[in-house]
Amino acid sequence: MSNILELKNINKTYRGKTEDLHILKDLNLEVEEGEFISILGKSGSGKSTLLGIIGLLDNFDSGEIYINNNKIDKFESNKLDRLKNKDLGFVFQFHYLLPEFTALENVMIPRLIEDFSNKKIIEEKAKTLLKKIGLGERYNNKPSQLSGGEKQRVAIARALINDPKIILADEPTGNLDEETSEEIHRLLQKINKENNQTIIVVTHSKELANITNKQYFVKHGKLVLEK
Ligand SMILES: Nc1ncnc2c1ncn2[C@@H]1O[C@H](COP(=O)(O)OP(=O)(O)O)[C@@H](O)[C@H]1O
Ligand SMILES: [Mg+2]
Repeated sequence: MSNILELKNINKTYRGKTEDLHILKDLNLEVEEGEFISILGKSGSGKSTLLGIIGLLDNFDSGEIYINNNKIDKFESNKLDRLKNKDLGFVFQFHYLLPEFTALENVMIPRLIEDFSNKKIIEEKAKTLLKKIGLGERYNNKPSQLSGGEKQRVAIARALINDPKIILADEPTGNLDEETSEEIHRLLQKINKENNQTIIVVTHSKELANITNKQYFVKHGKLVLEK
């Protein structure tokens, strides 16, 4: 199997007024296509920083990143934007749904940005996704009319609309109760199994980590494989 993601000797330092924080130190990671992996670690250990770098949302100081065998070059911003939209889907702890738009519109938006001419097709696809995640009846509800778990499902559907190769989730159930969290965990597992989409999830949930193929801990700026 080939690696969908490879990080080689990644270094990241936050520059401070009084001192610098060298948060990632020669960090390495290889992820095969279709893997479901979890990243755990203490608060402040650098998990979100790492996910932001993998997601091309944040830059790094040195090292190499390959996504789907494309070497990421920090300076080619057009290429980065394309990769970001096409190959990566994001789910955060907070849903970041747009309050003025319906569930359906929120799911459609990342694809409409890419291709405004195929609105009907995109709408059908967004409906199919919402049905698949159990929100088929709620297309026209705005975020304020949905529960926390439902909003997070919409955010997941939105992350899937561009058929990303890799889904990155940063504490996706950090704001949800136990039962709702379990539903989201099962949904992520289903997406991974049925679509063979690679999932990298940062979590404090042992239960979620246990259903992933591999568990990594961020320790002293590196990833340590625990399972
Ligand atoms: N933009 C930033 N500037 C300076 N320091 C930051 C910035 N972002 C995060 N940090 C610091 O880097 C460390 C790691 O943060 P983060 O990656 O968010 O950790 P985690 O997600 O594991 O809790 C923390 O000490 C945090 O305060
Ligand atoms: Mg974090």
